[in-house]
Amino acid sequence: MKKTFLFLALSLLSVTANATGADVLALNSPDGRFKMQFNVNQQGRPFYSLQFDGKTVVDDSFLGLELKKEVEGKQETFDNSKYTILAPIDHKPNFFSGFEIKNSLKSSKDETWQPVWGEETDIRNHYNELQVELYQKMNDRTLLMIFRLFDYGLAFRYFFPDQKNLTYFIIKEEKTEFAMTGDHTAWWIPGDFDTQEYAYTKSKLSDIRQLLPGAIKPNSSQTPAGPTCVQTALMMKTDDGIYVNLHEAACIDYPTMHLNYIEEQNKFVSLLTPDAMGDKGYIQTPFATPWRTIIVGKSGTDILASRMTLNLNEPCKIEDTSWIKPVKYIGVWWDMITGRSHWSYTNDFSSVKIGQTDYTKAKPSGKHAANTENVKRYIDFAAKHGFDAVLVEGWNQGWEDWFGHEKDFVFDFVSPYPDFDVKAVHEYAASKGVKMIMHHETSASTRNYERHLDKAYQFMVDNGYNAVKSGYVGNIVPHGEHHYSQWINNHYLYCITKAADYHIMVNAHEAVRPTGLCRTYPNMIGNESACGTEYEAFGGNPVDHTTILPFTRLIGGPMDYTPGIFETDISKMSPDNDSKVRTTLVRQLALYVTMYSPLQMAADIPENYERFMDAFQFIKDVPLDWQKSVYLEAEPGDYVTIARKDKNSENWFVGSTVDENGHTTNLSFDFLDDNAKYEATFYEDAADAHWQTNPQAYKIYKKTITKKTKMNIKSAPGGGFAISIVKV
Ligand code: NOJ
Ligand code: CA
Repeated sequence: MKKTFLFLALSLLSVTANATGADVLALNSPDGRFKMQFNVNQQGRPFYSLQFDGKTVVDDSFLGLELKKEVEGKQETFDNSKYTILAPIDHKPNFFSGFEIKNSLKSSKDETWQPVWGEETDIRNHYNELQVELYQKMNDRTLLMIFRLFDYGLAFRYFFPDQKNLTYFIIKEEKTEFAMTGDHTAWWIPGDFDTQEYAYTKSKLSDIRQLLPGAIKPNSSQTPAGPTCVQTALMMKTDDGIYVNLHEAACIDYPTMHLNYIEEQNKFVSLLTPDAMGDKGYIQTPFATPWRTIIVGKSGTDILASRMTLNLNEPCKIEDTSWIKPVKYIGVWWDMITGRSHWSYTNDFSSVKIGQTDYTKAKPSGKHAANTENVKRYIDFAAKHGFDAVLVEGWNQGWEDWFGHEKDFVFDFVSPYPDFDVKAVHEYAASKGVKMIMHHETSASTRNYERHLDKAYQFMVDNGYNAVKSGYVGNIVPHGEHHYSQWINNHYLYCITKAADYHIMVNAHEAVRPTGLCRTYPNMIGNESACGTEYEAFGGNPVDHTTILPFTRLIGGPMDYTPGIFETDISKMSPDNDSKVRTTLVRQLALYVTMYSPLQMAADIPENYERFMDAFQFIKDVPLDWQKSVYLEAEPGDYVTIARKDKNSENWFVGSTVDENGHTTNLSFDFLDDNAKYEATFYEDAADAHWQTNPQAYKIYKKTITKKTKMNIKSAPGGGFAISIVKV
């Protein structure tokens, strides 16, 4: 496939060749507002820059890679015979200088495609492309740079053609630069090869070095990537109000990229996640790297409206997608996260021996939530209120002692605890028209999971489960690998493609942050890869967290954020847990609109919803799939307000989440149809609401509105609002 692409590209190059020597190559975006330039300097180092509305947003920045020099051949003795282990070709590590521009080719694309699910029915993919063939004479090697300039920014990738002097090689480091033009404000989390579960820090670029060590969790067993390294998607704002976002798209068969900030030169340089050997990627040509993306706009809403990440991914590879559907679910989950009940069956740990426990002989703790009776209660609640599915965690054997095992495998994904009757639950759920979501905690033992995968997926199919929440808690087994290295990234994708064979949808937690692969594999309906609602039960997310996530984590794809917590005082769930969910009740409703995802959980327990049925109505009504999305106002760290039109009706839904200062939204309904009337239900914070002191104070009222209606809506500190709008 890739071979064909290369052949095509090169043959076109030779026909329309525009050999420019050292002349600068320039490209404009379709609307002309962006301009990029590319050249090689006197040492043959390729570099690019990007301008927006006449201003430089990325200054001259070098491109290239350093390859790993292979080890010398050495002699070994087996059976009295001598063998020479041959060294592969010396790869001449320099793949970043000594280049000349051999050829270049410009092309354009303007197409509209339809995602299986998404923020809008039709997505426009409109860009101008520049391909540059670079020749490195000293090593007789070729590198292709591919740039795409959209009306919302620039993307580029490296392409390594199949060639005589480059077949197999190992990357030592990618040396992609992003030179900044000022001391921007940035919203960042520390570079870490194993987790994105951090609170965001807002700081000037020049303060990253000083603040970063403090941003690393003091007890973290994770691996900080360096004292000035941050993760993507990185959101920035310049002093003159330009919004710049750096991320990547289509990360396949490649390690995840972090960004190392070089303060002296005010630039970011790529830093790839190493594998257990410290290597950064085993490559066989022809090969295309992930895209490096620079989304730029004059407002926060421009960034949220960009479709760059999806557009850079390949079209859907699953032929029959009729089985892939958005999922609204409840689950046996919050109970355990808050400490009210347990995943494990027994606390008589002396009766437990990994892989060999006879649970029929173990003494039940009485706190095991995933028991048949309790799960049936959840199924009843789901059926009554129109939820698609119920997630059950802690259904399978092994939870007594599962964390951090590197020698013994813990879970086999097919053995239920004695009080969880898989067959009875299946029949009960089917009789009520409710689907079940399976839970596979892999304990980060990726090889063990791969080994059990076919059986585990078949077990799901046999028992009526069409979606799985998987998890990768703890250090990756095999030892030394990281959560975002090349082959672990391949593992996640392997699970998704295999799941597709079984018509299973996947929601992986602790897996790599998304890069838009859900376009190609839309059975990937969710991911965690950031601090989700569970952190509200572990002390609390910062109040402004949900105003930042759309600019960072969600740039790569949907998140299983698990909103919908109505009882924010966790001690009411579990007396020893004094965490407070840092939100008003109404803001929890808004998140179903502001945190776009085809997979949405109502995470609180049924008893808490029963206390607030009038507010719960919004969660029941809100759709998960959209015709259109309108980004009304958005400022990272302050507020995000979005209106979305249901994919299957004429109804609209609006959500707004705001920070600890509260906010007044000047709302104009001009996104509605001309000459139409709508009945709108408003869910607002009461005048005295406050996330900390009065979170459950809200008002619900109805009002007839039209396109011409204008209103001011006040959100409480840590609050927001939600509106459902029905055409009459
Ligand atoms: C962490 C996940 O984020 C959480 O949702 C899950 O319940 C636990 N791991 C157990 O797998
Ligand atoms: Ca703020």
